[in-house]
Amino acid sequence: ARSYSITLLPGDGIGPEVVAVAKDVLSVAGSKEGVELRFQEMLMGGAALDAAGVPLPDETLAAARASDAILLGAIGGYKWDNNEKHLKPETGLLNIRAGLGVFANLRPATVLPQLVDASTLKKEVAEGVDIMVVRELTGGIYFGKPRGFGTNDKGEETGFNTEIYSVAEIDRIARVAFEVARKRGGKLCSVDKANVLEASMLWRKRVTAIASEFPDVELSHMYVDNAAMQLVRNPKQFDTIVTNNIFGDILSDEASMITGSIGMLPSASVGESGPGLFEPIHGSAPDIAGQDKANPLATILSAAMLLKYGLGVESAAKRIEAAVTETLDNGFRTGDIHSPGTLYLHCSLLAHQSRVLRLFDK
Ligand code: NAD
Ligand code: IPM
Ligand code: MN
Repeated sequence: ARSYSITLLPGDGIGPEVVAVAKDVLSVAGSKEGVELRFQEMLMGGAALDAAGVPLPDETLAAARASDAILLGAIGGYKWDNNEKHLKPETGLLNIRAGLGVFANLRPATVLPQLVDASTLKKEVAEGVDIMVVRELTGGIYFGKPRGFGTNDKGEETGFNTEIYSVAEIDRIARVAFEVARKRGGKLCSVDKANVLEASMLWRKRVTAIASEFPDVELSHMYVDNAAMQLVRNPKQFDTIVTNNIFGDILSDEASMITGSIGMLPSASVGESGPGLFEPIHGSAPDIAGQDKANPLATILSAAMLLKYGLGVESAAKRIEAAVTETLDNGFRTGDIHSPGTLYLHCSLLAHQSRVLRLFDK
C-alpha cells in the first residue's frame, strides 16, 4: 500500500478543533483508497510560544520539510497580540511559508448550490460563482526590507514596510497562475495597483510578458480597488485572479463571503519542490474558540486539496468533496452557514456523527 507522512499543525483557537476533524476525514478517505497516512503533530504559533518560547520551533520546520504534506489549522490569539514581532504566532506562519518555499497560494472560492442562501449577496449574484485566487505568498510587503520602527525628521515615531517584487518572483507566480487558468475557464485577471506603486508597475509588465507563453489564456488587468468592488458587484466575471501577497490576503477573505462563510474556504500553498502546505484561509477565530462552533469544512476541503495537489491521490480527494456535498445536501450546517430549514450541528458532530464520515461507507 502507498504510505505518506503528514505533519499536522493544529495551532491555536479553533485550529485544533478543525484539524482534529480533518485528520479523521483524511484517515478514512485514505484507507478507502488503500493509502496509509501517518500523522505527526507538531507545535506552531501561540501553542509553540507557550511550550517552547518560539512560534516556529526548529523541530517543527524540520518535521514539516521531511513529510509529504502539511495540514495547518490556524494560529494567533489575544494572548500573544502584543508580543514583539519575532515572538508573534503570525511570524511563525510567515516563517514556515518562507521556509518551505511555498510561493503560490491557491484559494478557491466556489459557491456550492446548497449554500447560495448562506451568501450575503443576492441569489442571482452569488449563484454559480467559481473563482480561483492565486496569491503570491512569500514576497511583497510581508517580507520586504527595510521594515521596522523609526523616527522621522520631525522626531515623530514611525512604522514602515517595503512592498518589493523581483522579476523572478513575479514570473514564477504568473506562470503558476496561467497554468491554473488554462486548466479552468481560460481567463486570468491580474490585480495590482500599477497606477500608483512601482512594485505593481513591474508586476503588470512581467505578467503581460509571461502571457506570450500562454496564448490560449485571456489576460486582463484590474486595479485592486476596482477589483474589490467588482467582486461584490458581479463576481461571475472572474475565473482566475492572480495578485500579490497582501491584495490576495484581503480579496480572498472578501471572496469567501460570497460562498457563504470564511469557514468554507480552503487553500493550498505550493512551491517549486518539497511538500505543500494546506490550510483554511480563516484564522484562529478567538471569538468562538473552545465552543465546538467552528465550521470544519474549510479545513476538510484543505485536506482534499492536500490529497489532490500534495499527494496526487485524486480519488481520495473526490471522496471528501462528495462527502461534503452530501452532508450539505442532507441539510447539516454549522452556525456560520445555517439558514432556516437546515439542521444546526456542532463542529465535531458535523464530521463525526454524520455525517461527513459515515457517508464514506456508502
Ligand atoms: P478570523 O478568520 O480568525 O475570524 C474572523 C471572523 O470569522 C470571526 O468572527 C470568526 O469567528 C469567524 N470565523 C473564522 N473561521 C471560522 C470558521 N471556521 N467557522 C465559523 N466562523 C469562523 O480572523 P481575525 O479575527 O481577524 O483573526 C483572529 C486571529 O487569527 C488573529 O490572531 C490573526 O492573526 C489570526 N489569523 C490566522 C490565520 C492563519 O492561521 N492562517 C489567518 C487569519 C488570521
Ligand atoms: C492568512 C492570514 C495570515 C496572512 C496572517 C495570520 C499572517 O491572514 O493566512 O490569510 O496574512 O497571510
Ligand atoms: Mn488572511
